[in-house]
Amino acid sequence: MLLGYHTRVGELKSRVEVLRWDGSLQVLDQRLLPWEERWVSVESVSQAVALIQSLAVRGAPLLGLVAAYALALEAQRCPHLDHLEGQGAALAKARPTAVNLPRAVAKMLSLARQVPEEKRGPTLLAAAQQLHREETSACQRMAELGAGILAGPRLGVLTHCNTGVLATGGVGTALGVVRALHAQGRLAMLYAGETRPVLQGARLTVWEAQRDGIPVTLLPDGAAGSLLASGAVGAVVVGADRIAADGSVANKVGTYPLAVLAQRHGVPFVVVAPTSTLDPHCPTGSAIPIEHRQPEEVTHWQGKPWLPFEVTVYNPAFDVTPPELIMALVCERGVVTPVTQAGLAEFCS
Ligand code: MRU
Repeated sequence: MLLGYHTRVGELKSRVEVLRWDGSLQVLDQRLLPWEERWVSVESVSQAVALIQSLAVRGAPLLGLVAAYALALEAQRCPHLDHLEGQGAALAKARPTAVNLPRAVAKMLSLARQVPEEKRGPTLLAAAQQLHREETSACQRMAELGAGILAGPRLGVLTHCNTGVLATGGVGTALGVVRALHAQGRLAMLYAGETRPVLQGARLTVWEAQRDGIPVTLLPDGAAGSLLASGAVGAVVVGADRIAADGSVANKVGTYPLAVLAQRHGVPFVVVAPTSTLDPHCPTGSAIPIEHRQPEEVTHWQGKPWLPFEVTVYNPAFDVTPPELIMALVCERGVVTPVTQAGLAEFCS
């Protein structure tokens, strides 16, 4: 079923910025947050690839935006198609899980093939800016829709990872819904899981929430069970990196256990993601490529080891939540509930 709930929320705003284009591309280096706000000028695709792989920029929609702007920059410098195809291929595989990244690259390369060399620079820049506007307005719409399906005068919301401005360039996916509830005076508390191992929840979500005056409580990931059991949480709201055709959702590792816990405690589990995160070509959750990252993210902190011995490490960056654990999927086009292949197909048609 496709629901079209509508709640009016005024235009949501944030004091946080993550990406600037003023003739050159600047991104906020998220590795340094919350201690330091350092803007980095992106001069080339190879630099963008390094920033993406090191998590200086991260979050599914933002990866697509940075890739699009980086290719536009490259097209201004060297508009030969062979060159752009090679650069696009490097960008598309910089990280494997978020589909927004290869999708943005494919869109830009398809445009590049359609226009003569001298028009590639301006055409790709206009396309990157258009994508930026689309992701921004998708966030606003998802925030309205998501707040509209969450019942109750006031509720606590548990989230995972960072899904705000820092991840989207707009007001956020799950965090956009939190902003809308806050704007409506309905947010009792935002509970942010720290999100081991690189702490996107603790470092980024808490920073973003505090910047914007949103009440936030930080918890270790392992405390989610007792928090849900306490009754303080009215909804678990998360983002996504890729959604398969069957409704399986890949998101930051630790999302799947939250969905299991939410079901155990009868708390709605809601996924908020733009259509750019839907992948109709990926049939099931098991077909979603899951990034595994370096062991040092688990055994070290800021370059220093936590352990005096070596150990084998399991460090997937994402996990997959099956659709039957998801109460609703909120996209900018509407709300799918229950999350089924047929319901999702309506969005992709
Ligand atoms: O490894 P990251 O920080 O890029 O992972 C990000 C997430 O898992 C987010 O939840 C997801 O991209 C949705 S953000 C709108």
